[in-house]
Amino acid sequence: MKISVIGTGYVGLVSGACFAQMGNTVTCVDIDEQKIASLKEGHLPIYEPGLEEMVLHNYKAKTLHFTTHAKEAIASSKICFIAVGTPMGEDGSADLQYVLSVAKTIGESMQEYLVIVDKSTVPVGTADKVRQTIQEALDARAVTIEFDIVSNPEFLKEGAAIADFMRPDRVVIGADNQKALDIMHDLYAPFMKTRDRFISMDIKVQR
Ligand SMILES: NC(=O)c1ccc[n+]([C@@H]2O[C@H](COP(=O)([O-])OP(=O)(O)OC[C@H]3O[C@@H](n4cnc5c(N)ncnc54)[C@H](O)[C@@H]3O)[C@@H](O)[C@H]2O)c1
Repeated sequence: MKISVIGTGYVGLVSGACFAQMGNTVTCVDIDEQKIASLKEGHLPIYEPGLEEMVLHNYKAKTLHFTTHAKEAIASSKICFIAVGTPMGEDGSADLQYVLSVAKTIGESMQEYLVIVDKSTVPVGTADKVRQTIQEALDARAVTIEFDIVSNPEFLKEGAAIADFMRPDRVVIGADNQKALDIMHDLYAPFMKTRDRFISMDIKVQR
């Protein structure tokens, strides 16, 4: 499957590398030009056991790409992960400006049905805000393109992130329709060969 991951920090890089390792073609996007240039030269911004080998192997095999051009990456993907930071705002709540800025870019770039997966840590109700932001950008283009929002929280432990991702205790997916859920199940099936650890829930219940 062709996947884009927007935000190549700790979560984005680990997820992108592991999805590529499982046979997907992944493009990791970041606005930080320096970070993307370093990654292309094989220098990783973080240390996780096993990550460097996985990144270098998949980058060489052209199953893992790095870019600052979000629009091209989004336009050619079937699933788009949002993995940007959600720093604490002045009132202590998660600052969603980066997540919603990515949502706008998604609406400006997508060309066909897309599953948008929120991997950033966000409060209940964020899926609606992301959906609305994408829809507004589509309306501004005067196009009708179907999309679904999925929530897929991350439970990586620093120092064991690759092992956790490749052999997850559980994969939690919040979605409000079967089509998106099936696509997510197909994506994660190779990570759950011995036992199905897929936990799905209706995203509407969280509202
Ligand atoms: N680090 C963890 O252990 C962990 C675990 C679970 C969940 N999370 C959550 O996952 C999310 C990401 O965390 P992280 O630690 O990977 O963050 P991070 O700060 O390491 O990385 C975020 C990246 O997003 C990039 N970015 C910001 N705006 C962008 C945009 N518009 N387009 C493209 N790239 C953009 C930044 O340059 C940065 O490289 C957060 O919501 C965090 O709470 C983190």
